[in-house]
Amino acid sequence: MLFDTHAHYDDEKFDADRGELLAKMRAAGVGLIVDPASDIASAKKAQAIAREYDFVLFAAGVHPHEAAGAAEAYLEELRALAADPKCVAVGEIGLDYHYDFSPRDVQRRVYGEQLRLARELDKPVIVHEREAVADNLDILKAHPGVRGVIHCYSGSWETAKILLDMGFYLGFTGVVTFKNARRVLEVVEKMPLERMVIETDSPYMAPVPHRGERNSSLFVHLVAEKIAEIRGMSAGDVARVTWENGKRLFDLS
Ligand code: NI
Repeated sequence: MLFDTHAHYDDEKFDADRGELLAKMRAAGVGLIVDPASDIASAKKAQAIAREYDFVLFAAGVHPHEAAGAAEAYLEELRALAADPKCVAVGEIGLDYHYDFSPRDVQRRVYGEQLRLARELDKPVIVHEREAVADNLDILKAHPGVRGVIHCYSGSWETAKILLDMGFYLGFTGVVTFKNARRVLEVVEKMPLERMVIETDSPYMAPVPHRGERNSSLFVHLVAEKIAEIRGMSAGDVARVTWENGKRLFDLS
């Protein structure tokens, strides 16, 4: 079975056919999905989906894009959501200096507050980082004891080594199938297999040959197949190992 560790089924792009789509997952070999939130409203929607489908789990967090809009009491709201047994992580959280939808100082503050919350709750984090490598490493180093995954990893092998030394898992999306994926494929090739998880980041990041389409977990096998090709393994073995890794990452027995 495949574990899609990052898919946004709370996104409105799934409103028209969410039930129909999720009903196809088991038969397509997708056995577990984590839906990470982007803000409090999205976390509540992800929680409702997780309550409806036993193979869907969720994460509660405020994405850097939404950091400036976080209400005064957002940490209390996250604490309440995190008490749900289906809430497996704090996420997604982090820094995005590509879009800068929130001022960078606000992004850093909200990220730090949520890293401390994750440590307090003893939950893993799901980290989003774009064009903010140095600040992300500084903030993570300032919060020892935080564990989790760097989602949609597309950075260098040098940065990957630092994150792996800190104990983080790395999540790989359809980006590994893109033509310009040489840098990320170096990481896929060299990193320890036991720290690798796979994801779709649906509805975004659809793998080749679906690039540009709405993505879903039905395409996560394409990520596993590309990794299998790079590592010289069978896709079944990649599925099995990343399934176990995902369960260890999110404390699922
Ligand atoms: Ni995401």
